Amino acid sequence: MTALRNGTHEQREAPYQHLTQTSRGTPSGELLRRYWQPVGLSGDVTPNGAPRAIRILGENLVLYRDDRGRPGLLARKCAHRCADLSYGRVEDGGLRCIYHGWLYDVDGKCLEQPGEPKTSTFKEKVHQPSYPCHEAGGAIWAYFGPGEPPLFPNYPAVIASEDIRYTARWLANCNWLQGNEGNIDPIHTSYLHRFELTDAVEKARMGVFHIDHAPELSIEDTRFGLRVYTQRQMPDSDDFILRITNQVMPNACAINGAEANAGPGGCSMFWHVPIDDEHHWRFEFTFHVKGVPKETMTAQYASEKDAADRPQRNPDNRYLQDRDSMEHSYLGMGKCFPAHDLFVTESQGAIHEQADEHLASSDVAIARARRLLAEAIRTMEAGGDPRGVVRDPVENVFDDIVVITKQLPAGTDKRAYCNKLASERMYG
Ligand code: FES
Ligand SMILES: [Fe+2]
Repeated sequence: MTALRNGTHEQREAPYQHLTQTSRGTPSGELLRRYWQPVGLSGDVTPNGAPRAIRILGENLVLYRDDRGRPGLLARKCAHRCADLSYGRVEDGGLRCIYHGWLYDVDGKCLEQPGEPKTSTFKEKVHQPSYPCHEAGGAIWAYFGPGEPPLFPNYPAVIASEDIRYTARWLANCNWLQGNEGNIDPIHTSYLHRFELTDAVEKARMGVFHIDHAPELSIEDTRFGLRVYTQRQMPDSDDFILRITNQVMPNACAINGAEANAGPGGCSMFWHVPIDDEHHWRFEFTFHVKGVPKETMTAQYASEKDAADRPQRNPDNRYLQDRDSMEHSYLGMGKCFPAHDLFVTESQGAIHEQADEHLASSDVAIARARRLLAEAIRTMEAGGDPRGVVRDPVENVFDDIVVITKQLPAGTDKRAYCNKLASERMYG
């Protein structure tokens, strides 16, 4: 690949560009398939209600819920003569194709072939491709990989009960990797999510991002991915603000979100699930043991996206940037963090070209996360379980996914502090 640099084109390496690929058979597409992925919201399908045509990881699928309430995820083309099953009837314990009436259960088993002779056993030889499903956190999850699925991971924001959790989804018109990399980029919060230019206003709103625009970053590999420590120096004392965010393998994160004001005991986790190489869903799970501001979030999100979870802001309307407001507002795009993130990651291009970028010291977490993904691919290709896959119930507890935004005295050992929080079972 070539890139324009100092006025000339030169060859530059993009060693991790392949991580953007999502199709079956590609290294990163196969890696993504080794983990449970959210594919829809629980409310997308109702028992015996309309099936839903979805596309995940470049595969055309149909999601439905049978008369027992079980979610099923099948290939969209009927195994008989390839009619679209998303137009089918949900009845008699399965999804019935309306071309010739073949009926499939949630496991893809063909239950009926009504046009065949009564003595026929052909239905036993036909299987509709299907994926195992699991329901948690207000979402339906699926496993697209080979063999026995790993344990469903008990991530705190996903196993939290509905009364203390908020689940949402946004369509993003860009590759999943750049979407997730924004979550482990602590510097951008001081710029992209800055509302006002006036120092006093910003200080009052979120001093943590305002006080130090060039914080000290350090990273640590964990069993689930990567922990990122961001240390911002207080201007008027020796104290510092510690913020801990996390990459959760391979396409998720755990950070402080809308629950941050409630202090320790909650987190926000986002999954960036590929629709294909150029589109993805951002699934959000926000929880706190003391509850989350659901009404506020619902009202804000409703003003920023439509009923199909498509953001109102898009390139055709220049993301509704209000240039006049930029005399006092930093980016002129309102105050909804996900809307900012979706704008900026889409602006990088449908598939971010790593050869065109210049990673700086403040991009240390992004660089390490790419290496961890590449390592995970090598582990998978050698026949092992990649980092973060859990098969032992003893390991299926994630108190070590620590998020925090807290002022601490000078000299506090941040890793020891993080370990202490992990040992305190702050998620209840
Ligand atoms: S194509 Fe589906 S039953 Fe024939
Ligand atoms: Fe952001």
